Amino acid sequence: MSVLPVLRIYAPLNAVLAATGLVAVAALTTPDMSGRSRLALAAVLAVIWGVYLLELAEKLLRRRAGDVRDRTPAIAIDVVAVLVPLAAFLLVGTPDRSLYCAVWLLKPLRDSTFFPLLGRILTNEARNLIGVATVFGIVLFGVALAAYMIERDVQPQKFGSIPQAMWWAVVTLSTTGYGDAIPESFAGRVLAGAVMMSGIGIFALWAGILATGFYQEVRREDFVRNWQLVAAVPLFQKLGPATLVEIVRALRPRIVPAGAVICRKGETGDQMFFVVEGRVSVATPNPVELGPGAFFGEMALITGEPRSATVSATTVVSLLSLHSADFQMLCSSSPEIAEIIRKTALERRGAAPKG
Ligand code: CMP
Repeated sequence: MSVLPVLRIYAPLNAVLAATGLVAVAALTTPDMSGRSRLALAAVLAVIWGVYLLELAEKLLRRRAGDVRDRTPAIAIDVVAVLVPLAAFLLVGTPDRSLYCAVWLLKPLRDSTFFPLLGRILTNEARNLIGVATVFGIVLFGVALAAYMIERDVQPQKFGSIPQAMWWAVVTLSTTGYGDAIPESFAGRVLAGAVMMSGIGIFALWAGILATGFYQEVRREDFVRNWQLVAAVPLFQKLGPATLVEIVRALRPRIVPAGAVICRKGETGDQMFFVVEGRVSVATPNPVELGPGAFFGEMALITGEPRSATVSATTVVSLLSLHSADFQMLCSSSPEIAEIIRKTALERRGAAPKG
């Protein structure tokens, strides 16, 4: 049981506190600020530090009580966020003390799910990224060598050594172009043009590798999550492995809050739904409740007619939705499931009052 539950800082509040602290740190570096404003900003930093201290105390007490919900690296960030500003307050002179609160930059990392994702992408794509980095290194050295040989006599102060020429090569290869060193000879300018073009190519390669890795990793996570959800719908257990993989890719998970309308009578329907968890209510003259494993919204896909009834969530409900094109794919690869869905739609239609 948590010792100070009220003080539990959740991810969004944690990010807001860190951002407020960092804005205060930045503002305190402006020279022409009044003494009162400085005091107010210092008080803001002190309050944030106090909240972080209480949060850390709560976590450590919880850990002692055997609750291991917080991982060690996350607690290490909390410890650093408290200890570094405290040490600065005790050991550093007044004007620079607040700068050490910049360590709160680490705080949002603690709760972020993006950085572990980025880590996995970098690991998966390490071979390709190292390959492009190697090409970058070779081009950089080659270009610096060429620029040194072409320009050293014309501009010895800027291209007098390979390290000097390398600075120009980095600035040009990255297409930044500070303009502090510019080739003057014709050959030097031709080289600069070629370097800029290859720079664009190399950075495009890097961006492409990362974007593809990101896309694949997100798709993989979606696939694993959908796979678990699909296992909760008995109808899909009739599918062979190949169709199951296709259907897992096609289904989109959705959480609907209690009371929300999922589809409305009279609307055109372009998807059907499978209930994974929770309950929905179909507003027929004798309202029907559907629970885990059931499906709805199939009638509009089969007949092309508008929705026959309004369906809303009775409880919070976890759904999987299937678009009409994927529904056709499911029907053609699994006639057995197509038959079950068609039969159910016919029964439901038969249950509707004529008129
Ligand atoms: P559709 O007409 O596309 O949209 C409303 C959905 O409510 C409908 O498909 C069926 O899936 C469902 N539905 C309609 N009537 C009944 C019924 N009598 N029993 C259970 N579900 C129904």
